[in-house]
Parts: sequence; C-alpha cells; structure tokens
Amino acid sequence: MLRGNKVGLRARHEDDIPTLRAELYDDVVNASRSEGGPWRPITPGSKDPRLVVDDTAQGHVPFSVVELAGGTLVGTATLWGIDTHNRSAHIGLGLLPSARGKGYGTDVVAVLCHYGFVVRGLQRLQIETLADNTAMLRSAERNGFVREGVLRCAAWVLGEFLDEVLLGLLARDWKPDAAA
Ligand SMILES: CC(C)(COP(=O)(O)OP(=O)(O)OC[C@H]1O[C@@H](n2cnc3c(N)ncnc32)[C@H](O)[C@@H]1OP(=O)(O)O)[C@@H](O)C(=O)NCCC(=O)NCCS
Repeated sequence: MLRGNKVGLRARHEDDIPTLRAELYDDVVNASRSEGGPWRPITPGSKDPRLVVDDTAQGHVPFSVVELAGGTLVGTATLWGIDTHNRSAHIGLGLLPSARGKGYGTDVVAVLCHYGFVVRGLQRLQIETLADNTAMLRSAERNGFVREGVLRCAAWVLGEFLDEVLLGLLARDWKPDAAA
C-alpha cells in the first residue's frame, strides 16, 4: 500500500465494489461531472473497468483509497494514460461524498505524485478538471500543479458546455512535502 499523511492507496477489493458503484457511479451528477462521457447505469456483477481491475492492463493503474486510521474505504484514485515514451500520465480521483472536504483529496494527489514520479519514473503528470471544481483545482495546486490552459466548452455536462482546466506538474518542480 502507498501511504500519505491521511490516506492509503491500495488494490481494489471485491467488497469495495458495491460501495463505489452506489456512492460514485450511480450518482448521475457526480458521474457526469467526473467521467467525461454520458452517464449510464452499471449492472451489478458487470466487469466495468471503473470497478473491476485488470491487473494486466499496462497503461492504467487504479487504486482504492482508504483512511489510514481504520482502513475505511473513502474513494478511488487512478494513474491513467501512462505513456512510457514521453514518460507522462494523467491522474484522476473521486471521493465518496462523506469523505470530501477533509484534506483527503490533497493527500491523494500527493500520493499519486509519489507513485508517478518516484515509483514509475515519470517526468510529467497532468490533470483535467471542470473549471468550477474548486476542490480539485486546490488539491492539485497545493501539490505544485500549475494551470497550463483552459479548454473552452470542452465538456458537455447535464445540459451545458463547461470549460475544463488543464494542469501539469513536472518531476523537476515537484516538492514532495508541498501539501503536508
Ligand atoms: C475533488 C475532490 C477529489 C477533492 O478532494 P477533497 O478531499 O474534497 O478536497 P480537500 O479537502 O483536500 O480540499 C482541497 C482544497 O479545496 C477546498 N475545498 C474543499 N471542498 C470545497 C468545496 N466544496 N468548495 C470550495 N472549496 C473546497 C479546501 O478548502 C481546500 O482548500 P485549501 O487548499 O485552500 O485549504 C473531492 O471533492 C471529490 O471527490 N469530488 C467529487 C469527484 C471529483 O470532482 N473528482 C475530480 C474529477 S477531475
């Protein structure tokens, strides 16, 4: 398990799946804002890759996020789009509603940076988020990500086009304890 100050990132367990499905992916607003695509229900027992992890897939590393104190599941985190030529990847995360606003998101970003830069030897990490997602923007910026551009009207979200912000962090600029 990868450890931050408040949360740990570990493998997906079978009994994480019902909670993640109910609290993240069955929530139409949350899923529509986070997924970059149209919401549709996930059938119980399906092998949807957001829930069921394929350990052989090379470009994509999904984690379950747990509280270090007690081990309670609080969300998901992913290093995705891993490009071993350009040594870059994207990060994504989603916390259960009850776990938001407690500093966990900032800590998850810190742990994903450690995984990307130290464990995987990457040189660039990238995040795309909706321009009104203040908590995600702050979680990224607290860890040293800088805004590199605005993708105007890039996301169709529940009846309107919203801007996305693209943020990047280079290994040479990363300060491991920046958000601690
Ligand atoms: C985005 C998300 C991961 C952030 O994690 P979090 O644990 O809620 O955020 P933190 O508690 O670490 O807070 C980070 C910063 O945002 C601020 N913040 C938190 N919630 C906020 C809110 N609802 N509105 C405005 N600011 C907020 C905090 O005050 C903190 O600011 P600071 O660094 O200036 O002190 C989490 O809220 C979440 O899972 N949201 C739904 C899914 C999502 O949007 N995923 C990202 C898709 S790209």
